[in-house]
Amino acid sequence: MLDFETDYEQWRQAKFAAWQASSRRQFIPIVDPAALSAQEVEQLRSQCEQSNFALYRVENPALADKEAIRGLVHQLGMTHLDKNLCADNDSITTLKIMDLGRASGYIPYTAKALNWHTDGYYNPLHQHIRSFLLHCVQNAATGGENMLLNHDLMYIHLYDQDPALVQALMQDDAMTIPANVENGVEVRGRQSGPVFYRDAQTGSLQMRYTARGRNIEWKNAAAVQQAIAAIEQLLGNDNDLIVRITLQPGEGLICNNILHGRSAFTNGNIPGRERMLYRCRSYDRLFSNL
Ligand SMILES: [Fe+2]
Repeated sequence: MLDFETDYEQWRQAKFAAWQASSRRQFIPIVDPAALSAQEVEQLRSQCEQSNFALYRVENPALADKEAIRGLVHQLGMTHLDKNLCADNDSITTLKIMDLGRASGYIPYTAKALNWHTDGYYNPLHQHIRSFLLHCVQNAATGGENMLLNHDLMYIHLYDQDPALVQALMQDDAMTIPANVENGVEVRGRQSGPVFYRDAQTGSLQMRYTARGRNIEWKNAAAVQQAIAAIEQLLGNDNDLIVRITLQPGEGLICNNILHGRSAFTNGNIPGRERMLYRCRSYDRLFSNL
């Protein structure tokens, strides 16, 4: 296995070649999400290996109910599922606008834009989200576009500017997430950790990040501040590394928890046509334990 630290040049070349060879904007057709064919699995696996994510399209969207999506994630190697605060009982979260209740305090459940982040950046490292799936049941009347950036390419972007930038972000105290307090009760303690790290399970590069400054304290060190500014600059300008997609009913995204965000959306006023997505998060890297 190539090492992104000591064999950097080789790793970089391999990653870029794979990225260039990948057909990352193409949707891989799926007939039955509950029972993938060997060919479908191979296409998804190979696409994820090349670009850290894959897009799919279930030919008959009606087949992709929650039960089928639960079956799908297991076939992708997502076996240890995260149960976040607002997940439904079966670890699959229904993302739609929630006006009332606990979820209404969190931006994913509103129509607002979601700035760049990786999922679960606030989790302790032993519960790091290594992969997630987003499946579109109903698209919005307008907006709701997802933007994606493979974090391997972000690492390369920074390293090529100055290796000290990635070194700064690999420190255990590069980022600190303040405690989460709901109604005076602490539901999650303070968490410190690196931005980039080597995953002990798979040896691959992982990233934790959020552009929402209010949710984070960056280490007060020049190299960390400089690295964060370089990340913001790349994410803030349109470039070839950013992929933008608006999922349609039956379409979905799987990824190794790469950098992503969402534009604001409006639902229109047709009852039953509100934007709705299923999301499932896992502690497993895609296809790593198959
Ligand atoms: Fe997310």
